[in-house]
Amino acid sequence: MFQHFTGFVYLFAVSQLVSLAGAQSECPLQLDPQRVVVRYGGSVAVNCSTSVLHKGIGWEASEGGVPMTQSQNLITWRVSKLTEWDIQPYCYINRIQGAQCQVELPVTVYKTPDSVFISTVNHRGPMMEGQQYELQCDVHNVAPVQYLTVKWYKGQTLLHQTTFTDNIKTPENKTVTLLIRPDRADDGAQYWCAAELDLGAEGPQPYRTNSSNPLNVEVYYKPKHSSSTETIIQDDKVMLDCTVMANPAPTYTWDHLKEKSSSPVLNSSALSPGNYTCTATNTLGRDSKVFIVKSIGIRPTFWTVLTVFQLSIALIIVI
Ligand SMILES: *[C@@H]1O[C@H](CO)[C@@H](O)[C@H](O)[C@H]1NC(C)=O
Ligand SMILES: *[C@@H]1O[C@H](CO)[C@@H](O)[C@H](O)[C@H]1NC(C)=O
Ligand SMILES: *[C@@H]1O[C@H](CO)[C@@H](O)[C@H](O)[C@H]1NC(C)=O
Ligand SMILES: *[C@@H]1O[C@H](CO)[C@@H](O)[C@H](O)[C@H]1NC(C)=O
Ligand SMILES: *[C@@H]1O[C@H](CO)[C@@H](O)[C@H](O)[C@H]1NC(C)=O
Repeated sequence: MFQHFTGFVYLFAVSQLVSLAGAQSECPLQLDPQRVVVRYGGSVAVNCSTSVLHKGIGWEASEGGVPMTQSQNLITWRVSKLTEWDIQPYCYINRIQGAQCQVELPVTVYKTPDSVFISTVNHRGPMMEGQQYELQCDVHNVAPVQYLTVKWYKGQTLLHQTTFTDNIKTPENKTVTLLIRPDRADDGAQYWCAAELDLGAEGPQPYRTNSSNPLNVEVYYKPKHSSSTETIIQDDKVMLDCTVMANPAPTYTWDHLKEKSSSPVLNSSALSPGNYTCTATNTLGRDSKVFIVKSIGIRPTFWTVLTVFQLSIALIIVI
């Protein structure tokens, strides 16, 4: 009677231990690897093994299933060309004691996009400085979008990025837009977008990235001088330089000049002292700059000396 009771306690303790150990993987099966990431049309092989005696072990899958076998402890689910987006294989075992149990294999089937295309929405030609424009990135035929990130770049600078939450396994088309307000510094900039599939540690490294062609942006902007006046001391080598950045390229006019000049640069020594206003003009606007030309200052000194000299002579004569 006492022995019977001890045995009962012992059994109870063992069963508690087993269920504790089994809390993590109740089913005595190991998958290797435990998760797979496969390119659509790619190959895959996953081992399912057990260390316990059993009445049969097998893989159930819509492709590459392995019929139940009693004679093996390791069986491999293998597909040489996986063409199913939503495949859910599982390995099962018929235990000697207890019921059948199974372990599912998470499979991610991916496909890089057929194309990544950048365009400007409802606009062609140069952009105007300070106005808003919309860029669009079209990513065609990519899966699964849950792992997709669409990134926007200007040159090498990351501007913005978008991720998706749809839990759709089959390929999707995704369109992402970006609002930009270019300024003069953006003239000639290259915008582009990239579709990145980050499939985790089991996925391909580095990430699968597909980029659009660059979109070259031309920005129109009006002339703007960095300073509106400049004082020039007359000298053979000193020029009045009115050159200013603008797109389209500006034309130049000079006021207070006997002959008209369309050159942005004047030789100071050819001018008499005074103020010279230059205006740079393009289709968007105009901006003027005043050059204050001063004489070198040697003549006033000379005349001053001469006058003092003459006054001295006169004074001497008077005396
Ligand atoms: C699966 O098992 C076989 C045989 O033991 C071994 O050669 C192979 O490397 C294993 N594959 C993986 C992915 O562990
Ligand atoms: C994606 O776009 C292509 C071409 O425009 C089209 O043939 C295809 O049906 C689209 N796919 C989806 C899932 O909408
Ligand atoms: C997308 O990128 C992958 C590698 O990341 C490359 O194999 C594939 O050809 C690219 N697709 C396109 C349309 O460029
Ligand atoms: C400016 O003009 C003077 C006289 O007309 C001339 O000697 C000088 O070489 C010119 N300088 C430049 C930089 O063209
Ligand atoms: C030239 O411009 C300066 C500064 O704008 C002004 O003080 C000066 O009176 C002007 N001279 C002439 C002759 O217009």
